[in-house]
Amino acid sequence: MNRQEIDIYVASADGLFRYEAKGHSLQLVLTNDVRATTGIQPFVKDAPVELVYVADYSRMGRGSDEDKNLYSAADTGFIGQNVYLFCASEGLATVVRGSVDRAALAKTMDLRPEQKIILAQTVGFPNK
Ligand SMILES: Cc1cc2nc3c(=O)[nH]c(=O)nc-3n(C[C@H](O)[C@H](O)[C@H](O)COP(=O)(O)O)c2cc1C
Repeated sequence: MNRQEIDIYVASADGLFRYEAKGHSLQLVLTNDVRATTGIQPFVKDAPVELVYVADYSRMGRGSDEDKNLYSAADTGFIGQNVYLFCASEGLATVVRGSVDRAALAKTMDLRPEQKIILAQTVGFPNK
């Protein structure tokens, strides 16, 4: 049904942004550096880019939460894999991450209750 329920948030030293696919642009959400809150591993605060995949369940119709969990997780997997392919082609390093304090991050990002953090993904430069 082409719900397009996943929003990609981009955390960098310059702030937190939401990717707008139609205009291929980044919309500023927060001006502060929230990278450290996107995960529980020490490298997350140092990598140049942290992606946070957020499913907006209010765009997913009236199905069960079980269905919404399944489809939003699958859709995030496809998107994350595309990031892996792009990073491989550009010589960048990446890791998808499930170890996220979702409650704390949702608070930092000021998300609505229907917005669920699925996964995060670090993008950076490989160790020399
Ligand atoms: C759903 C999912 C969640 C993951 N969560 C984490 C994580 O929280 N932290 C982390 O360092 N790696 C995480 N990984 C990455 C795997 O640990 C990693 O891909 C695996 O060790 C293989 O390493 P490679 O990608 O370098 O081949 C996750 C992978 C998947 C698929």
